[in-house]
Amino acid sequence: MSQRVALVTGGTGTIGTEICRQLGAAGHRVVATCLPAEADAAKSWQAAQKQAGYDIVVVPCDLADFEATAAAIRTAVQQVGPADVLVNVAGITRDASLRKMTPEQWHAVIQSNLDSVFNATRNVIEGMLDRGFGRVISISSINGQKGQFGQTNYSASKAGIHGFTMSLAQEGARKNVTANTISPGYIESPMVNAVPEEVRQQIIAQIPRARLGRPADIARVVVFLAAEDADFITGANIPVNGGHYMS
Ligand code: CAA
Repeated sequence: MSQRVALVTGGTGTIGTEICRQLGAAGHRVVATCLPAEADAAKSWQAAQKQAGYDIVVVPCDLADFEATAAAIRTAVQQVGPADVLVNVAGITRDASLRKMTPEQWHAVIQSNLDSVFNATRNVIEGMLDRGFGRVISISSINGQKGQFGQTNYSASKAGIHGFTMSLAQEGARKNVTANTISPGYIESPMVNAVPEEVRQQIIAQIPRARLGRPADIARVVVFLAAEDADFITGANIPVNGGHYMS
């Protein structure tokens, strides 16, 4: 069998980078998308990955825009072939209590976190179904499961991701196209570091494992779900949160 191609949206971010590396180490040909505004920075990122032994293709892509995503995915196909594995990682926060939240904060989060999942998946799904193999893995959040003060936008987008996953799982199952969600807890990352220090310490105190998660904690589950023999796992929402929330 030829090498599987894995497309990782937001692949140059903190969690995305570790996912790209672990998929590469597991034998996948990896493509990472980055924001068009970060294309130059992504070149240094790519060089750093190469130096560390990971040969990763980078494609700039505005995932909030359907046509732009279609074009970026066509570019990726030309370079490495169609995606067998799609990992939807790209996401942002714009935290504010609802009474203070602006429509811009709402729409930015829904577009970046949820529309992006439709835009990327819609542009790879037909190929996966036609070829009879696909792994769609979407990164949601503990806060899509339990909610979080200040995150009505983010929690709605992340809960929406798992609804998307469960429906897609039913559409793909007969064609060996699985769809699963991973719901990370609080992970060491700039996103979590942006939470005010006092609030962050209160949150860490609620984690039974007594530490923040690491990007590698998430990436190992991605690699597990991407495997050829993971085809009986579909429609699942796998928590990776140190015991912070159990359902
Ligand atoms: N529960 C209940 N009440 C709370 C509260 C909470 N968690 N947090 C604040 N409040 C109360 C305050 O005590 C205050 O009460 P009074 O008015 O009676 O004094 C009131 O709410 C303040 O409300 P504001 O709307 O003025 O809030 P703010 O502007 O001060 O800040 C916030 C709100 C921006 C949301 C801030 O609390 C915050 O940043 N919280 C962290 C949110 C968070 O966890 N984000 C996760 C980011 S990481 C991530 O998202 C990754 C992932 O997947 C896990």
